[in-house]
Amino acid sequence: MKKYFPFFRKYRKALLLAPALVVIDVICEIVQPELMSEIVDNGVMHKSMTSILHTGGLMVGLSLVAIAANVGNIYFSSHASVGFAAELRKGLFNKIQEFSFSNLDKFSSASLTTRVTNDVNIIQEVVMMSLRLLIRAPLMLLFAAVIAIRINASLASIIGIAIPVLAVSIYFILRRGLPFFEKMQQRLDKVNGVIQENLVNVRVVKSFVREDFEKKKFGYTNDELKEMAVRASGMVVLIMPVMQLVMNVSIVAIVWFGGNKIMSGTLQVGQLMSFITYITQILMSLMMLSMTIMTFSRAEASSERILEVLNTEVDIVDSPGAKEKNLLIKKGKVEFRNVCFKYHPDGAEYVLKNINLIVQPGENIAIIGSTGSSKSTLVELIPRLYDVSSGQILIDDADIRDFTLLNLRTSVSLVLQQNELFSGTIKQNLKWGNVNATDNEIIAAAKDAQAHDFIMSFPEQYETVLGQSGVNISGGQKQRLCIARAILSKPAILILDDSTSAVDTATEAKIRASFSEHLKDVTTLVIGQRVSSIQAADRIIVLDNGEIIGLGSHDELVKSNAVYREIYESQQLQKETAL
Ligand SMILES: Nc1ncnc2c1ncn2[C@@H]1O[C@H](COP(=O)(O)OP(=O)(O)OP(=O)(O)O)[C@@H](O)[C@H]1O
Ligand SMILES: [Mg+2]
Repeated sequence: MKKYFPFFRKYRKALLLAPALVVIDVICEIVQPELMSEIVDNGVMHKSMTSILHTGGLMVGLSLVAIAANVGNIYFSSHASVGFAAELRKGLFNKIQEFSFSNLDKFSSASLTTRVTNDVNIIQEVVMMSLRLLIRAPLMLLFAAVIAIRINASLASIIGIAIPVLAVSIYFILRRGLPFFEKMQQRLDKVNGVIQENLVNVRVVKSFVREDFEKKKFGYTNDELKEMAVRASGMVVLIMPVMQLVMNVSIVAIVWFGGNKIMSGTLQVGQLMSFITYITQILMSLMMLSMTIMTFSRAEASSERILEVLNTEVDIVDSPGAKEKNLLIKKGKVEFRNVCFKYHPDGAEYVLKNINLIVQPGENIAIIGSTGSSKSTLVELIPRLYDVSSGQILIDDADIRDFTLLNLRTSVSLVLQQNELFSGTIKQNLKWGNVNATDNEIIAAAKDAQAHDFIMSFPEQYETVLGQSGVNISGGQKQRLCIARAILSKPAILILDDSTSAVDTATEAKIRASFSEHLKDVTTLVIGQRVSSIQAADRIIVLDNGEIIGLGSHDELVKSNAVYREIYESQQLQKETAL
């Protein structure tokens, strides 16, 4: 609960006013039947018009106050619950933004989306319900019981039997029904998962003509959800007739015993009427209470899922003191000292083993190695997308953990292997790397990434609108925009993870040429699969199974490194056979 307090902060006033208005509403409502009995017993029985008018006027007045209080309560509780939900969604979204890569590895994006939307909605409903019913129902029950006992204690003993009977039946119904609701929530999660995964991969589905398979898969999960929803609501629907039965039996009993009392003169007609109303109110409150309990228990699963996100410890944050030191990266020297890394702390195998490496400022380093040899992992450690398991990475001779994440990541620009663009114009996408970039800088960066020409060939040029993740441009064009975006942030260290895999060799050569001309002072680490695209690098790292097994220029490696020579020769062979 405590975790939720900050999200209520803005709505403290509404949180106090809503229950206060409930109390006013209940008080106004609860005296109505008694006033009614007054009209019957004093006004009608004694034919006193003034008494009828007087009490009737009071009833109308109190009704108006009750209506006003109720409207006020609806206003404040909606205000508070909707506002709370908005704050909570914002809180969750912001928290997810802080997540490190390894935090993100733990949640599927479908599940995060369900948590931020559906689960928050359920909590919102609970807040709304708490502010309206949670206080109202017990208060009503208490007042009605007290008044009923005051009217006639022996008649009130009937409630003493009705309440436990109803409470026990509701308890058993809920005990059977609630597990269904929990399962329903899990199945909803599954439905959302299937939809999301399908939408993300809809192009793959189409190209493999697997629509029917996907339809069946969805139909199955959807049916499972439906079945559970039917079973859950079936249980709850039972509450209604049980309550009706208990209520009717109670009323019959009251009329029977009350009738006898009227005949013997110990009870008046009006009193009996109001007594019946109070009994109804008591049983209704009990039902409202059970509904609230049900909603609460249903929401528990959602709350747990939300708290799981809020309580996730972000494992990569600024080290203590980093802010005060405010170290900046100036030269771009990178050093790995005995770096070992594994993705899961309890995993057995290290994916990087004893990496030792010094990259000089402005140096142009290439990394090559078979797939799965940990090339991406190696470079992702530099901007602290993951933290080393042991050893140390230094930039400009300072441990990377001594920089703030902001300073580190602004100076280390990494074009990820799986890079994405956002929906918006090309210019917006490029500026995303540096919001203060001028038009000239944008064009210069696009030229360096060999993107300018194709951008200018579009009718709208830099204002061309890209669809979600850049669907309306080619793979190679997208890669070049990603490179331009990275250059624009003016990094001291630029890392390209296989970022020209979809670019033809001639264009790739041009990118390399403009890099060596315009990004001379920038330390670059380039992961590549083709020897032709990396052989001009100052030095080449050969990675194999998480270890550096070769380091040197192309010529040196061809001579001395068997693995490199093998890669080189197989690619030469491919070229010759292609010719
Ligand atoms: N997020 C992750 N969680 C757990 N293991 C991972 C994760 N990412 C990669 N791995 C594992 O780490 C190893 C190295 O992967 P990495 O992506 O660094 O290889 P790579 O050399 O970049 O391969 P490729 O050439 O295919 O891009 C692989 O065995 C992979 O299964
Ligand atoms: Mg990779």
